[in-house]
Amino acid sequence: MPLSPWTFHSAGSLVFGREAVTQLGDIARRLKAKRVFIITDRVLLDAGIVKRVEEPLTAAGCVVGIFDGCTPEPPVTVVRSATEAARAFKPDLLVGLGGGSNMDAAKLVAIVMAHGGDATDYVGDCRVPGPVFPLICVPTTAGTGSEVSAAAVFTDTEKKMKVSTLSQYLRPLIAVVDPMLTIGCPKKVTADSGIDALTHAIEAYTAVNQDEFMKRPPGGETVYQGKNPMADLMATECIRLVGLYLRRAVADGNDIEAREQMAWAATLGGLAFSNAGVALVHAMEYPVGGAVHVSHGAGNGLLLPYVMRYNMTVRDGDFMAVGRLMGETNADANAAIRVVEKLREDIGIPTRLRDIGVTKEMLPGFAEKAFSIKRLMRTNPQMPQSADEILTIYQEAW
Ligand SMILES: NC(=O)c1ccc[n+]([C@@H]2O[C@H](COP(=O)([O-])OP(=O)(O)OC[C@H]3O[C@@H](n4cnc5c(N)ncnc54)[C@H](O)[C@@H]3O)[C@@H](O)[C@H]2O)c1
Ligand SMILES: [Zn+2]
Repeated sequence: MPLSPWTFHSAGSLVFGREAVTQLGDIARRLKAKRVFIITDRVLLDAGIVKRVEEPLTAAGCVVGIFDGCTPEPPVTVVRSATEAARAFKPDLLVGLGGGSNMDAAKLVAIVMAHGGDATDYVGDCRVPGPVFPLICVPTTAGTGSEVSAAAVFTDTEKKMKVSTLSQYLRPLIAVVDPMLTIGCPKKVTADSGIDALTHAIEAYTAVNQDEFMKRPPGGETVYQGKNPMADLMATECIRLVGLYLRRAVADGNDIEAREQMAWAATLGGLAFSNAGVALVHAMEYPVGGAVHVSHGAGNGLLLPYVMRYNMTVRDGDFMAVGRLMGETNADANAAIRVVEKLREDIGIPTRLRDIGVTKEMLPGFAEKAFSIKRLMRTNPQMPQSADEILTIYQEAW
């Protein structure tokens, strides 16, 4: 428990449950929205998911516009096209509909609509100058927690790097989490996004606490605060639920109970990490994701056990708790890491960097890039002192 006061931030409201999207009409009325612009992708349009969001809005008298050009790990060029389309439509409310990629694209549109410039102008911490354009987020995957988080991640195509912007202003006005929208989510996306949720919760739960965090260099404004009791509650419940339900959701996409519990786990993970922080796994995934074609979740899932091993000496007790939450009775931190490895294997996440197109020569450059993401070095329980320390972990994962 940190000695200094802590704050907990979330989306303005959270609407959760089966068929929650049917409430969108009432929500739009309450917000006095007349023109609603949905930012989404072709896959979800063809799957009929966009229609399920659009119908309650049109029934409430809203005029609805749609941008269906989003693509995974959104390139900045897509954000630019979405912004142009949104501006032409002149909406009074934006809806980000999809996985983390579409929700993040919508968040970036909301920044640029309110403050001008380009998404790349806002990369980093606390660089959004004020409230963004009104935004509702509706997830169709169970993983990123973007619907409640303060982050938006995109691909800077010029720099070939995943980058993010973090700001309390980026928490959506309303998160509408309807597990029924995740039913048709493909196996691979279910596995990748599910293990991303686990990574969020484990990194948040084992992060430094706020007092340690404040003592670490460098200072400066950030939305991450280190661990606090509220984030711990959410992280531990997320870990428990992922342990119980992720395999089931991957094995049978129509298992509604598993889908519902995973949707809940992902939202909890998003609340935990977006207050406490994510750490070294995420820092190490960013350069990998920018260089080879791997989803954010699969990259994190691959790296997670290697980073847990690096952190083990300073988080022995916490890892034992993680193991117990995931059903491991042998109370030992190594056993907890093996439980995560077993889950990773069972759901088909790659286990070696060499298997996803990473060459040995790429590793020193990755280590430099990861080490330069200071806010994520700062939250990690064992703070890396050099890029070489990170290189050793990459080499083990290779
Ligand atoms: N903002 C945050 O807080 C945050 C946190 C973690 C990750 N992220 C980012 O989120 C992105 C990953 O998001 P993701 O894992 O949700 O995947 P995604 O949004 O990239 O989606 C992957 C694919 O799955 C399809 N899909 C999604 N839902 C579907 C459904 N219900 N039915 C059929 N197809 C469906 C999409 O159309 C897409 O083609 C990455 O860019 C990552 O960096 C953001
Ligand atoms: Zn993540």
